[in-house]
Amino acid sequence: MTQKVAVLGTGKIGEALLSGMIRGGWAPADLLVTARRAERAEELRTRYGVTPVTNAEAAKTADTLILTVKPQDMGTLLDELAPHVPADRLVISGAAGIPTSFFESRLAAGTPVVRVMTNTPALVDEAMSVISAGSHASEADLAHAEEIFGAVGKTLRVPEGQQDACTALSGSGPAYFFYLVEAMTDAGILLGLPRDKAHDLIVQSAIGAATMLRDSGEHPVKLRENVTSPAGTTINAIRELENHGVRAALIAALEAARDRSRELASGSNIK
Ligand SMILES: NC(=O)c1ccc[n+]([C@@H]2O[C@H](COP(=O)([O-])OP(=O)(O)OC[C@H]3O[C@@H](n4cnc5c(N)ncnc54)[C@H](OP(=O)(O)O)[C@@H]3O)[C@@H](O)[C@H]2O)c1
Repeated sequence: MTQKVAVLGTGKIGEALLSGMIRGGWAPADLLVTARRAERAEELRTRYGVTPVTNAEAAKTADTLILTVKPQDMGTLLDELAPHVPADRLVISGAAGIPTSFFESRLAAGTPVVRVMTNTPALVDEAMSVISAGSHASEADLAHAEEIFGAVGKTLRVPEGQQDACTALSGSGPAYFFYLVEAMTDAGILLGLPRDKAHDLIVQSAIGAATMLRDSGEHPVKLRENVTSPAGTTINAIRELENHGVRAALIAALEAARDRSRELASGSNIK
């Protein structure tokens, strides 16, 4: 039997997922989407050949519901859905910081819920999606979520208690690298390079370093040591990074992101 999957609240992340799934072989006829605005629904129909439906229709028809609205809109969406979702449907939440218990308490008893924290490289099929089971989600439910999010990058299963830490590392992670590129481009300008050239040099270095980290199997320390020759240029730069406490700053920054994720998950932004 064909499994129907609905993406509810198809914005940036929802669309990235939808297009990844279609490229990964899902038939558009098996994909339903919902949107708040009619013109957005039509845009998705034209672009992907998928069927726009209402949230209630999606709840009744689809075997798997993927909720990708903003956290502050999740309560309203669940109010619309809850009366229509049979307890055997898999509900996958892509919203940052909302615990599975929030969904379980609003849906029929026993509804399987899987929580996924992805990141913006989903837009280029290089996402890191962290997946956790709610109390009623089975191995098959987790595997199904992995299959869906695997269409836009890598997946990793973690216990839900580690989701706040993962949000700090990979959810916000791309922003730290963008910040580094911005700062290093400024450095290039200080050193007399035009901005566009400095940008290209740093971006290609970032892509090269990321590819080596992923593909070489080497530890990052080894990779760094390979470019750190005695009395050379790199060690002078590293000394300044250490003098300015960059390592300590990164540890503190990620701890702050983890704490904020915990705070948000405790419910201050979810209605
Ligand atoms: N962007 C990121 O960096 C990122 C990374 C990881 C996870 N996430 C998570 O992914 C989720 C989506 O983020 P996003 O950046 O994709 O947001 P987004 O672009 O605003 O997408 C959400 C979409 O949901 C629609 N919507 C809101 N309420 C709805 C309802 N009741 N029924 C149907 N559609 C509804 C919105 O419509 P309108 O267009 O009318 O507002 C919007 O198109 C969030 O929960 C976020 O936590 C985001």
